[in-house]
Amino acid sequence: MESLIRPRRLRTYETLRKMVRETRMDPSSLIYPLFIVEGEGIKEEIPSMEGQYRYSVDRLEEALEEVITAGVNGILLFGVPKTKDEEGRGAYDDEGVVQQGLRAIKKRYPTLYVITDVCMCEYTSHGHCGILKGSYVDNDATLKKLSKIALSHVRAGADMVAPSDMMDGRVKAIRKELDRFGYTEVPILSYGAKYASSFYKPFREAANSTPLFGDRKTYQMDYHNRKEGIRECMLDVEEGADIIMIKPALAYLDVIREVAERIPVPVAAYSVSGEYAMVKAGAKEGCLDEGELICEMAVSVYRAGADIYISYFAKELAAYIREGRIG
Ligand code: PBG
Repeated sequence: MESLIRPRRLRTYETLRKMVRETRMDPSSLIYPLFIVEGEGIKEEIPSMEGQYRYSVDRLEEALEEVITAGVNGILLFGVPKTKDEEGRGAYDDEGVVQQGLRAIKKRYPTLYVITDVCMCEYTSHGHCGILKGSYVDNDATLKKLSKIALSHVRAGADMVAPSDMMDGRVKAIRKELDRFGYTEVPILSYGAKYASSFYKPFREAANSTPLFGDRKTYQMDYHNRKEGIRECMLDVEEGADIIMIKPALAYLDVIREVAERIPVPVAAYSVSGEYAMVKAGAKEGCLDEGELICEMAVSVYRAGADIYISYFAKELAAYIREGRIG
């Protein structure tokens, strides 16, 4: 072949391949999601998410030691309360499971960065992410509750709040409430484009938050839509979101790419429970290599333009980055 141009030239050796890599990763951009359950002495494996556990506050230390040792410096907290009611009151109870967890974590690990999920679905008896009016989730009534939840998390020590409910106007409502109480420096990471996804199924088992009737399609987004995702993210930024998230990650790389190009704030991507469960199931079957998949999925998300990656594999990824396997 007579060609002066041979792209393979830059792929000859591992050292050279690493030199010319376009996507670089750093463990400080990883966030690990963690479930806290009400009760004592509990560390229970989540059946739908092998290798992931629910911890009671008194046993959180075991999980946090692993996270910190791995070099992951941020966690995203989800609460699983014992009791639920129609209005999800437990979500903004100052003695609630997340609030207690926050105080315990901040006392023991003051420098660990703690983000909390702000939503109602784990706390409502019907499992929807807001206050019901008949069978419809009432947007504006829910905003008041979300603001109260965010405020109570921040008062208990949350470094950042992450509303995941997908109500209209929630970022503005939360921002105003936090500012009113002097928490002007606490950032909001909004689930900007959150699609109504089947990939959340294992999480709903983990958090006991499956809706008793209907689905979440009147508030989470239709996965046929790309422009709507961009619009949602733009609106959140206009309302004061500091970071925006795309969720799920793997099936939405196009949305990540476009948001990252068009909206000048950091972009997070959440590789959700179903993505985790697929990798685990494939590896168990012996038809997929777990470690290889973890790496490829993560790099794809960063390559698409994400700055922050939320993953149940965050600890493994931090190790792979340190070992030079990726990044
Ligand atoms: C709460 C919430 C969900 C997830 C994060 N926050 C579940 C849902 O919307 O039904 C899913 C996370 C995952 O699947 O890992 N609204």
